[in-house]
Amino acid sequence: MTQYLADSTRHPHASDQPVAATDWWRDAVIYQVYPRSFADGNGDGMGDIPGVRERLPYLRDLGVDAVWLSPFYASPQADAGYDVADYRAIDPMFGTLHDADGLIRDAHRLGLRIIVDLVPNHSSDQHEWFKQALREGPGSPLRQRYHFRPGKGENGELPPNDWESIFGGPSWTRTEDGEWYLHLFAPEQPDFNWEHPAVQDEFRSILRFWLDMGVDGFRIDVAHGLVKADGLPDIGAHEQLKLLGNDVLPFFDQDGVHEVYRSWRRILDEYDGERIAVAEAWTPTVERTANYVRADELHQAFNFQYLGTKWDATELREVIDRSLDAMRPVAAPTTWVLSNHDVVRHATRLSGDENSYDPHRARAASLLMLALPGSAYVYQGEELGLPEVTDLPDEVRQDPAFFRAAGQDGFRDGCRVPIPWTAEGSSYGFGSGGSWLPQPASWAGLSVEAQTADPASTLELYRAALRLRRELPGLGAGESVQWQDAPEGVLVFRRPGFVCTVNTTGAPVTLPAPGTVLLSSAPVEVTADGVVLPSDTTVWWAV
Ligand code: GLC
Repeated sequence: MTQYLADSTRHPHASDQPVAATDWWRDAVIYQVYPRSFADGNGDGMGDIPGVRERLPYLRDLGVDAVWLSPFYASPQADAGYDVADYRAIDPMFGTLHDADGLIRDAHRLGLRIIVDLVPNHSSDQHEWFKQALREGPGSPLRQRYHFRPGKGENGELPPNDWESIFGGPSWTRTEDGEWYLHLFAPEQPDFNWEHPAVQDEFRSILRFWLDMGVDGFRIDVAHGLVKADGLPDIGAHEQLKLLGNDVLPFFDQDGVHEVYRSWRRILDEYDGERIAVAEAWTPTVERTANYVRADELHQAFNFQYLGTKWDATELREVIDRSLDAMRPVAAPTTWVLSNHDVVRHATRLSGDENSYDPHRARAASLLMLALPGSAYVYQGEELGLPEVTDLPDEVRQDPAFFRAAGQDGFRDGCRVPIPWTAEGSSYGFGSGGSWLPQPASWAGLSVEAQTADPASTLELYRAALRLRRELPGLGAGESVQWQDAPEGVLVFRRPGFVCTVNTTGAPVTLPAPGTVLLSSAPVEVTADGVVLPSDTTVWWAV
């Protein structure tokens, strides 16, 4: 197995100058930092911006192009910061605007770009506008920036329609004056009314605020949710969560959202340096996802169809082709993603059994993802092969979905446990003051320190893969892969100068060796008769 050790002096983008623009996002590897769980700079048990700043060299050496940070704005943290009270302020728990400015500058000096999370579908119930709306009472124009409605039933005691919250229960909450307000997520996250010009203006201004701060782009939270169908019609079905991602619902993926993104694209294009936006859009099909990345809209959209695909050669091949085919007409890059802060970590999800963690499939899946043309998203800790933590005690949980019913993919604290940096010490180097969610003792062996320089480790596999992705001309570029004949359960595809072989079966498979091994997710043996691919293994070949 070939492995390459990271060499911090060789990062191609490193310079004191702003990062040069070269369609950088089309094949970028973008690393998601979940700030409360990445690194704790002030020892309060919660990650923060100074912690991220200190660890930027680690991300530069890992070989990613950009860092997307989940929200760090002023927030009561009812949904871990996805409930924003002030879009232009940093929550004291994470630091100050000065820290954010330092983070952006440090990142640029290291050749890394910074993408921030924008949460336009809803605010916090502690946002000034929502507090005003409550104070002013029914009929006030200040209520029109949200969705307030009288209830149904004789005394208005029933919600205005049958929409269910993503976190469980009705998506309406009644106020003391008897009106109801809409919240697709928690009651502390009232939905904005995107028909209202003040909402539209406010978000254009927020975009400019962060662009002026120097950020390179935005991840748009719930990008598919902003516009609701006229009249907020009933769905007429229960268990609406099951419909998510399968049907166009009156609150998701409405055609009207695209007008918003066209106006945002004009703003992004006014700035130099190719500032981008990526949509978190859960749509029924990759074809509908492509609508978000038309030439005058956003740049990328997460490929959740790929994330949701089983470890099965036929299904993987289908979703890869379909994703590439869907993006070709709009000339946008396809994205690939296996994990994020909302889903079960792929080390556990793909193993098929949450109690028998086996990193092999995850390693093979990661190498497959990084061999595909387009942009790839890496969620913090996946480069360490971290599993989902499935046995968190109830009293430490914070995910609002846990308290309201099953949320998207169940409960999300298990993928948010803080990163182990060292094999020993307080919270394995996360910070000097413990960690807001307990880390399993087995994570000592998965820490950055324990894995660094171990050629068999998942961390060194990622470092080597990202190094090769930069060195091999065009590995992330292009719009298609050329499939080659392969036995059942095996994928073989060709890219210029490169072949990737993936054995998804539970047994070794022998193939003719297509070239010279560049990197592999498990040791492989090449003999005169060919190569024996162990079960659940991906190999990169130079041809
Ligand atoms: C997105 C976020 C998720 C959050 C939700 C509501 O899906 O990724 O973490 O709970 O939006 O803002």
